[in-house]
Amino acid sequence: MRGIAFDRFGGSDVLTLRDDLPEPPVGPDTVLVRTHAAGVNPVDVGIREGNLAGLFPHHFPIVPGWDLAGTVEAVGPAVVDLAPGDEVFGYLRRDDVQWGTAAELVPAPQRCVAPKPESLSFAEAGALPLAGLTAYQALTEALDVGEGDRVLVHRAAGGVGFFAVQIAVALGAHVVGTASPRSHGFLRDAGAAEVLDYSAGPVSEQLSAPVDAVLDLNGGDALADAPEQVRDVSRIASVVDPAVNAMGGRYVFVRPERHDLEELGRMADAGQLRVAIARAFPLERTAEAHDLVAGGHVRGKVVVTLR
Ligand SMILES: NC(=O)c1ccc[n+]([C@@H]2O[C@H](COP(=O)([O-])OP(=O)(O)OC[C@H]3O[C@@H](n4cnc5c(N)ncnc54)[C@H](OP(=O)(O)O)[C@@H]3O)[C@@H](O)[C@H]2O)c1
Repeated sequence: MRGIAFDRFGGSDVLTLRDDLPEPPVGPDTVLVRTHAAGVNPVDVGIREGNLAGLFPHHFPIVPGWDLAGTVEAVGPAVVDLAPGDEVFGYLRRDDVQWGTAAELVPAPQRCVAPKPESLSFAEAGALPLAGLTAYQALTEALDVGEGDRVLVHRAAGGVGFFAVQIAVALGAHVVGTASPRSHGFLRDAGAAEVLDYSAGPVSEQLSAPVDAVLDLNGGDALADAPEQVRDVSRIASVVDPAVNAMGGRYVFVRPERHDLEELGRMADAGQLRVAIARAFPLERTAEAHDLVAGGHVRGKVVVTLR
C-alpha cells in the first residue's frame, strides 16, 4: 500500500513516501476506506514530534493523519449501515496511533465516519471533521451557545476558528473574532459581526462590553485575559489549555461522534458551513503540508489529496 509513514519521532524530514506499507486489518466494527483527501491538523505535527507519546500507545511505522474523506472499500462483518462504494468523511482518532489517513487505505471504526456531505468536494470534506467537530462540540456542549449570545472566538481565522465562527452564527449568536488585520474581511464574509486585532493590546480592553461566552483556540494571553472578557467564567471554553478548568471554565478534547459529523454535513449542505482550503498538497508533499500547519499562520485548512 502507498502512503506516508515515519519510523521515529522528529521534524517533517522523518515523513517518507512508501509503497510497501502493509494493508491495514479490518476488524468487525471497521470500515476500510480508500482515501481521497486527508486534512492536516496541528495535532499531526505534535504526534510526529512525539509530544503525545504519553497520551496514546504509538506503534511504528506510523501513518500520520486523523481526518479523511474517501470511498468505502470493504466493511467488517458487524457493520450494517455502510457498504462498499459509499462516500464517507470522518475523524479517525483511536486510542492507538498507527493507521493514519495519509495513505491509500485506512481502517475506520464505524462510529468515526458518516456519509460525505453532497455539497462538499472530497478535499473540502476531508478538511472538515476534526476542526469542525472541535468547534461544534465546544460551542454546543461546553458553552451552550444559543440565539442572541455574544460569543468571542480567539484565533478565529484558523482551522477550528473559521468553522466556529460559522457554527456560532448558525446557532444564532453575534460573533466577535480575533485575527490579524489581513483576515478581518475573511471573517466578516463568514458572518462575524465584529473583528478584533489580537496584536493591538488586550482583547478585554478592545471589547465595548463583556461577552456571554468565550471560545479560546489560542491559549496564552488570550486565555489569561478571558475572565475580563466574559460575564460568567463558567462560559469560557479552551481547546488548548486544561488550566481553563481551574479558572472555572471547561477544557474541550474533541471526540469522534457520527451524530455530530452528520450535523456538520447537514449545515454544509444547507449552505451554513463553508470549508476554506488554504492549500492542497499531493500525498508525496505531506511534509510541506506539515510545515505549513506548524507555522501557525494558515487561514482555513490544509489538506493532502490522493486522487
Ligand atoms: N483539544 C482539542 O481537541 C483540539 C482540537 C483541535 C485543535 N486544537 C488546538 O487548537 C489550536 C488551534 O488549532 P487550529 O487548527 O485552529 O490552528 P491553526 O489553523 O494553525 O491557526 C492558524 C491561525 O491562527 C491565527 N493566529 C495566530 N496567532 C494568533 C493569535 N495570537 N490570536 C488570534 N489568531 C492567531 C493565524 O492568523 P495570522 O497568520 O493572521 O496571525 C492563522 O489564521 C491548536 O493549538 C490545536 O492544537 C485542540
